[in-house]
Amino acid sequence: MKLLVTGGCGFIGANFVRLVLEERPEVSVVNLDKLTYAGNLANLAGVDETYGGRYRFIRGDVCDEPVVDGLLAQGIDAVVHFAAESHVDRSIEAAGVFIDTNVGGTRVLLDAAQRRGTPRFVMVSTDEVYGSLGPEGAFREDMPLKPNSPYSASKAAADLLCRAYCVTNGLPVVVTRCSNNYGPYQFPEKLLPLMLTNALEGAPLPVYGDGRNVRDWIYVEDHCRGLLRVLDKGRPGEVYNLGGACERENIELVGGLLRELARQKGQDAEDYLSLISFVTDRPGHDRRYAMDFTKIEQELGWSPQVDLAEGLRRLVAWYLDHETWWREIKSGAYRDYYRSMYEGR
Ligand code: NAD
Ligand code: TYD
Repeated sequence: MKLLVTGGCGFIGANFVRLVLEERPEVSVVNLDKLTYAGNLANLAGVDETYGGRYRFIRGDVCDEPVVDGLLAQGIDAVVHFAAESHVDRSIEAAGVFIDTNVGGTRVLLDAAQRRGTPRFVMVSTDEVYGSLGPEGAFREDMPLKPNSPYSASKAAADLLCRAYCVTNGLPVVVTRCSNNYGPYQFPEKLLPLMLTNALEGAPLPVYGDGRNVRDWIYVEDHCRGLLRVLDKGRPGEVYNLGGACERENIELVGGLLRELARQKGQDAEDYLSLISFVTDRPGHDRRYAMDFTKIEQELGWSPQVDLAEGLRRLVAWYLDHETWWREIKSGAYRDYYRSMYEGR
């Protein structure tokens, strides 16, 4: 089986490519990635050597029609589409590239898949397309989409384009909507790796608003295993929610992370907790996400396996073990972005 993965040099894409190559010896992977600020070849270091014949990297843009069409013309059995601009705060600052990549790039892929008769297409959407919940209830696949940020609006547009190509053109697309991931290789602009690496640097830990926004947290390996299940058995035209069954307020989650960090470093948790600094809230900040993933549980037999305590243990151990990886990211261009995002907050 020949798989085209887009965005395989990002956080979830890299974890997915590694998992597929490790556990599916019959699969070869073509990874199309533009290497934006979030795409990092180091995320797939060693993969070429270990799985040589089964892995090919192509630096390219999902919006580039000839490149995408040329790849799908080579006979791809399935596409797993991760490539996206993924950070909400950046989308608030500048939405254009989110529309270009997330909407335009998905359209290019769908058209090429249509033209070339690609037999399977998994669209990696997000729970953020549903908008925000009150204190009760959880997102179900049949709920209306009410995205609140330019990021989530662009993902909702892409998600619905997939539906349209399936209904109108019969393209066999399956859509997944997963909650907040954490784990190895996550870019340190997202909550957990930002807090973890700032804490190690003794820098302030900026918690937005009152810190009581709720997210559902899933360990990235669980998400990747769910995607494999959808790739194998998901029904075309269907949407599948994935979640970690792990709702936490941000401030509670950050506390848990810092206590785990202190435990692994043999330090006093108070040293880290005292770095927490409440800053101006994110505009339009969704209050609460929660997932009902009964459908994928019942239909495809998937459920998350890694609980939060275990996930945080693995997360902290990985970042402590990969200091060069995150320090290289946090120097250079990333520093300028970080400054503009938090200055005056
Ligand atoms: P990421 O930002 O870490 O990685 C995105 C990758 O896409 C990078 O390697 C980047 O170089 C690549 N890319 C960006 N624009 C591109 C383009 N025009 N052409 C080719 N490659 C391009 O993102 P992530 O957190 O790994 O998320 C991956 C996907 O999963 C996204 O579609 C995101 O919406 C979705 N998702 C993420 C989460 C989460 O918690 N991170 C949750 C649910 C869904
Ligand atoms: P994030 O990792 O950006 O994911 P998303 O916004 O896609 O859910 O943020 C997770 C939560 O953490 C969200 O409620 C915003 C909050 N947050 C902070 O409080 N401080 C920060 O510096 C960041 C990046 C996020």
